[in-house]
Amino acid sequence: MKKLEWWKRAVFYQICPRSFADSNGDGIGDLKGIIQHLDYLQDLGIDAVWMTPHYPSPFLDFGYDVSDYLSVAPEYGNLEDFKRLLSEVHSRGLYLIIDFVLNHTSDKHSWFVESRSSLINPKRDWYIWRNGRNNEPPNNWYSWFGGPAWEFDPFTRQYYYHFFMKQQPDLNWRNPEVKQAMIDTMRYWLEIGVDGFRLDAIGMVYEDSKLTNQESGMSQLGLYQLSRRAKTGHQRRVAARISNKMFRYQMDLPDNHGLMRELRNVVDEYPNKVLVGETELMNYYGLDNDEIHLIFNFPLMRLIKLTPSSIRQNQYRRLKQLPNDAWPCNTLGNHDTSRILNRYGYGNNHCAMGRLFLALLLTLPGTPFLYYGEEIGMMDISIDNVKNIFDEIALWTYRMEVEELGNSEGEALKSALIAARDKSRNPMQWDNSINGGFCPPHAKPWLPIHPNHFNGVNVDEQTKDPQSLLNSYRLLIRIRKKNPALINGDFRIIKSPKGCLAFFREVPGKKYKYLIVLNMGKITNTYKLPHSYEMNETIYSANIKEERNKESDVIHLAPYGIYIGLIRRSR
Ligand code: GLC
Ligand code: CA
Repeated sequence: MKKLEWWKRAVFYQICPRSFADSNGDGIGDLKGIIQHLDYLQDLGIDAVWMTPHYPSPFLDFGYDVSDYLSVAPEYGNLEDFKRLLSEVHSRGLYLIIDFVLNHTSDKHSWFVESRSSLINPKRDWYIWRNGRNNEPPNNWYSWFGGPAWEFDPFTRQYYYHFFMKQQPDLNWRNPEVKQAMIDTMRYWLEIGVDGFRLDAIGMVYEDSKLTNQESGMSQLGLYQLSRRAKTGHQRRVAARISNKMFRYQMDLPDNHGLMRELRNVVDEYPNKVLVGETELMNYYGLDNDEIHLIFNFPLMRLIKLTPSSIRQNQYRRLKQLPNDAWPCNTLGNHDTSRILNRYGYGNNHCAMGRLFLALLLTLPGTPFLYYGEEIGMMDISIDNVKNIFDEIALWTYRMEVEELGNSEGEALKSALIAARDKSRNPMQWDNSINGGFCPPHAKPWLPIHPNHFNGVNVDEQTKDPQSLLNSYRLLIRIRKKNPALINGDFRIIKSPKGCLAFFREVPGKKYKYLIVLNMGKITNTYKLPHSYEMNETIYSANIKEERNKESDVIHLAPYGIYIGLIRRSR
């Protein structure tokens, strides 16, 4: 078997530095805090860490508003701490990739401060400045986070373009100096030794240079209302189509691909580095796998319901579109969505369900990305006051509801909370003390700690409980490692009773295949082996009623039952 690149074998684990562990008691997570928990991560069995932005930032967008690409946010530590983190990661045989925000900087970045200072400043063209038309913005584009995509700057009397917040002006990548400065930044971190980058919002880097007006025929507020009302799949697709039209000149232009190839070339000068792209579009793998190594299967993460048929459909589609030799990449949660159990969990079976979702992620073809805290079943926090919302998407929603739609503040808050990404960015729960071991009991954590850390949703208690979700994570990750066919075996979905998902992972020429059966339903299901196969060995099972008779070719799966085993052709 050809040795796979490390990032094909790896289980990734996403850390948000602000929310992982606070080492100095200011209520904000930091790099030293991460270092103190690397043994935990190693023991969990993950191979690589993706860290969301660690750069200095006004923090209006969770650090995705970078004010200096070459250093570390002071509240997280300094460059020495970063280097120590990296060497401690490496000494444990793990990898670290960092976030790289390409599309925009913070408006506090010195580049923008200069750019904005005068029409003739040498950095003026580093951002996208245009004259207005009759006191109106240059065109009718919207910002993804709400409102017009153009901000008027009274000082130089021009507008600048921002796809995201107005405090996140878009860089002008058509200016060769910008490209050079950003590539230099990448080299800077590669020289320090990071193992790659998660490239943020790669679809938004270039926008139509003619600034063609969009013709969606709808206002952003109209689209918001339409999306809110959309209940059926059809209605959601209609809303998505309008949204695509609305942003068509601002997203996924062909120009992006040339740039991705250039960035890939830079990274390829260093051995064993990886690029992960924040996009779901397969064409970013490149025509010849010469762009991004890993593209997220976001459609899986966005499934409204995680059912055998929705997963089957997702896999058929994705794998059909996957370019030759490209490697898939799956995730069920990140800092931009609600936590897994909030979206897919119900009732009191969180442990069993969390285990089932993990088993799925670890046995589907592709590199899995886990989100910190999901291994102990962390849930979204509830927020009861608009003052405690940081996320601009939610704040825009709130303002729209109150100011434009005339809704009550209570209703507005409800809607804002659906959108608020703060909910899932909550501090990690290490133990059951006040503040959950994230920060000292007397400190004020930057976001509230979920009270369920008092009730078993914490690392400390789950470590001691052999039946815990955490220990299932440890075990399942190890099983994946010990059974490489689960990583590189061919994938074949097979027939299964309603409510179950069943598939093979098999290496051609091998006597045994891996059979994976997941009962995703609320009732017990019986799975019967395909004709002419027999069981050989159970590798892992949970919520299974064992047959007394070893020869049996059926598996009884209780709700959320998991079966992973070896089977072979019977003679
Ligand atoms: C990406 C990040 C998101 C951020 C946005 C703007 O989508 O995942 O959190 O708000 O980029 O940088
Ligand atoms: Ca701190």
